[in-house]
Amino acid sequence: MSIWQALVQEALQARSLWLVVGLAATFLILRATAWQERRRLVSAVVLSSLHLVLLPVVAILVVRESASLGMARLPCRIFLAMALVSMGGLLLFTALLPRLGLRTPRILQDVLVAATSIVAIFAVASREGFNLSGIIATSAVLTAVIGFSLQDTLGNIIGGLALQLDDSIKVGDWIKVGDVAGKVTDIRWRYTAIETRNWETVILPNGMLLKGQVTVLGRRAGAPQQWRRWVWFNVDFRHQPSDVIALVEDALRSAAIECVAKEPPPNCILMDLTESYGRYAVRYWLTDMAADDPTDSVVRTRVCFALRRAGIPLSIPAHAIFLTEESEDRKTAKSRLEHQRRMEVLGKVELFGRLTDADREEIAHGLRHAPFASGETLTRQGAIAHWLYIILGGEVSVRVGTVDGLEREVARLGPGDFFGEMSLLTGERRSATVVALTNVECFRLDRSVFETLLQRSPDIAEVVAEILARRRVELVAVREGLDQEARQRRLDADKRDLLGKIRGFFGLGE
Ligand code: CMP
Repeated sequence: MSIWQALVQEALQARSLWLVVGLAATFLILRATAWQERRRLVSAVVLSSLHLVLLPVVAILVVRESASLGMARLPCRIFLAMALVSMGGLLLFTALLPRLGLRTPRILQDVLVAATSIVAIFAVASREGFNLSGIIATSAVLTAVIGFSLQDTLGNIIGGLALQLDDSIKVGDWIKVGDVAGKVTDIRWRYTAIETRNWETVILPNGMLLKGQVTVLGRRAGAPQQWRRWVWFNVDFRHQPSDVIALVEDALRSAAIECVAKEPPPNCILMDLTESYGRYAVRYWLTDMAADDPTDSVVRTRVCFALRRAGIPLSIPAHAIFLTEESEDRKTAKSRLEHQRRMEVLGKVELFGRLTDADREEIAHGLRHAPFASGETLTRQGAIAHWLYIILGGEVSVRVGTVDGLEREVARLGPGDFFGEMSLLTGERRSATVVALTNVECFRLDRSVFETLLQRSPDIAEVVAEILARRRVELVAVREGLDQEARQRRLDADKRDLLGKIRGFFGLGE
């Protein structure tokens, strides 16, 4: 028999012609339906080529009636079987099933094709008279070699399938593994591919994803996909944090920004106070994970402009050294101005209105500056605290506890008002709780200052008692509709009562 005849006979026996026809058909179908998957045709082409290359070798061995014929024919037919399985899988998963609306995960396709190929190899081997399963089962060394070499591969396949089945990671998710963050573009039988924002593709073995910690960015159960971002900036701490926060939040919420979620709205917080500046952070929720840096930039720009409009400069990390010559003149001028301010404030407070200038001077010296942030409690009902507050700016709410354990607001006080006088003068426990409704600036007057004053001029006790009694009686008169006579009687009684308490508290004689 000539080589040519042997070749034709071998090709007919192996049905190689069908392989070529199948390859051409797959090419055409793929071209018509899923041309973007054409790269997957490569393995079928390579396997078919290997088969076709081996065919002439087999033909030569047939002519020579060589003893090695079986050893050459087996791989030739195995390549043919694998090429057919590869083409079948390609047609099934890229052309047929998607047409029927069924999309299978890529890893499942790979595993099914691989499993079918193994079955095909065993079937071909057995037809050719080789018992592969017997060889593998009886050779302990071969089994061990295959077992070891497949250990990682199997781990990756099982890992990939587990990821798909429990839905922990899907194609399209943004994930972070160690230092790498990117979008999952493919989950294959061996690896998961992620594309980073730097235009890189990182290949992560599935086994690694299963063993290590993976962060899925922007995912929270029952919530839309959005990821909280932090944008930092520094502002000199001489600017009120509440002003900075309010104006930055207003700037970020007043007009929508692309890729910034409406809900929750962006917010601004003061994160730290350093030597020369306050460190602030804007937190916003990013809706498109790919646009992190550009959106940060837009948010940062808005913050810059808003601060600039308000005349608040951004601070840079620096050690600011303020050199001020503390001359005697400067000190005197400063304290004169402050003293003047205190005297003006005291002049407007009814409680001190009838004191002499000298007495007011004494009080002015003893005043202490006491600022409170909105929401802070300035005094608590029932507390023992012997000082009063004069409000310079802001608003407070005076609240009294009711029998059912709740609190009722009885008054609101603002600039020029004072409170806490009862405890200061009589030593009684606080009769009400006072809470700051806004940021509040106060002067605080302590018992020791008043005590010195009373020791020097005990008559002040009478003046103060009268003012307090009048204040109290005026309220009662309106509430209870007292006439002039009843009002006077009540005033005398209250004044006597208060005077007695003041004298007792400060240890003054009759
Ligand atoms: P004192 O009792 O020392 O502490 C709580 C303060 O709240 C109290 O002094 C008063 O100055 C003030 N206060 C209590 N009740 C009222 C009220 N009805 N209206 C205005 N101020 C009040």
